[in-house]
Amino acid sequence: MKILALNGSPRKKGNTNRILDEMIKGCSENGHEVKKYFLDKLDINPCSGCEICAKGKDCRFEDDGAEIINQLAEGASLIVASPIYFGQMTAQLKTIIDRFYSIFNNPDKHFEGKVAIIFTHAYPGDDFYKPYIDLVKAQPFENNTELEIVDTLEVGGVKYIGDADKAAEALKKAYEIGLKF
Ligand SMILES: Cc1cc2nc3c(=O)[nH]c(=O)nc-3n(C[C@H](O)[C@H](O)[C@H](O)COP(=O)(O)O)c2cc1C
Repeated sequence: MKILALNGSPRKKGNTNRILDEMIKGCSENGHEVKKYFLDKLDINPCSGCEICAKGKDCRFEDDGAEIINQLAEGASLIVASPIYFGQMTAQLKTIIDRFYSIFNNPDKHFEGKVAIIFTHAYPGDDFYKPYIDLVKAQPFENNTELEIVDTLEVGGVKYIGDADKAAEALKKAYEIGLKF
């Protein structure tokens, strides 16, 4: 299967990327084709709420976001990964997730395949953001897509670049989730 791995961190060599790469390793070893997108460097317009997607038309934006959206509408699976910024996902990831509306809202389009969700953060422990992550899992994913949720992974106690290298348990879990695709 084709899997799009969306990294919402602005730090290319940061903790999110380290964990994400480990999950990608599991996916690739299972024979899946994984395409990673570093969202911060892409040209992705936020949804303008024009609602033309409700009329069965493609999103009005022909930007890098369209490349991602078109592959999802063709059945690609997904990994979304983000650091926690002020208690939530980064703007980079939220911007493309809002564009998922152009599939959800289009009577002729739908999602299929699977999704895994990764969040990294500095606060110690791996369950502080569970209520937020449960919400993300519920909406958009369970409520607004047909994607099957593979798993979610919260990695706490990582702040500076390189911290995730020491998070052996989280790296192992990420790899194992990758194998589940
Ligand atoms: C603007 C900003 C806001 C942050 N907000 C939080 C927060 O609310 N809770 C938390 O635990 N960590 C917070 N952090 C820390 C990051 O989540 C943490 O450093 C993460 O590992 C960064 O991932 P990266 O290395 O992939 O960029 C924040 C960091 C920044 C730069």
